[in-house]
Amino acid sequence: MKKNIVVLISGRGSNLQSIISAAKDKDYPAAVSLVISDNSKAQGLYIAKNNSIDNVIIEKSSFDSNDKFEEDLIKNIIQYDPSLICLAGFMKILSKNFVEKFMGKIINIHPSLLPKYKGLNTHQKAINSGDKYSGCTVHYVNNKMDDGEIIAQQEVIIATDETVETLKEKVLDLEHKLYPKVIKALLS
Ligand code: GAR
Repeated sequence: MKKNIVVLISGRGSNLQSIISAAKDKDYPAAVSLVISDNSKAQGLYIAKNNSIDNVIIEKSSFDSNDKFEEDLIKNIIQYDPSLICLAGFMKILSKNFVEKFMGKIINIHPSLLPKYKGLNTHQKAINSGDKYSGCTVHYVNNKMDDGEIIAQQEVIIATDETVETLKEKVLDLEHKLYPKVIKALLS
C-alpha cells in the first residue's frame, strides 16, 4: 500500500510533475493523493487534473486572516493522512503553528545551495557572486523562508558563459531528479 503525499504548489508545477511521474513506478513507496494550490491560475492544477489527482484551490485572499487560511489548508490536508507534505514552488511562509502540527513531515525544494540565496532570483545571485557551483536543496520546512534542516543537495558547475536562463534550466533539471529521489528515500 502506497503512502500518501500532499503537494502544495503556487505555479507551474514541474516539480509536481516529476514526483507524479516517479510515483507511477510500482516500487515507489508513495503516491500524490492531493494537490493544493494557493493560486487559482497555477498551471500545476492542470497537471493534477490530467493525472486524476484530487486538487483544491485555497487562496489566502479568500480568508480574513492567515490563521483562517492555514486552518483550511490543515482541514484539507488531514483528510488524506499524508506521510509527507511536499512544497513544490509553494511561495508562502507557513506559520509556527502549522509547521508544528506536521513536525518532520513538511519538506521543500529550493533552487540554490542553501543556506546561500534564500528567496527569489537565486540564479542571478549565484552568478553575480562569481560562484563556481550552484544547485538545489531539499530541506525540512520551518516557519522561516527557505530555512530548516537540509536533507539533500545536488550541485552543478556554473560555466564561465552561464546565463540566468541556462543555469535555471540546469538546476531545474536537477530538481526534477533530486526531489522524487529524496521523497523515496524518506518514505522507504
Ligand atoms: C522551483 O525552481 C522551486 O525550486 C522553486 O520554485 C520553482 C517552482 O517550479 N521554489 C522556491 O524558490 C522556494 N523558495 P515548479 O512550479 O515548476 O515546480
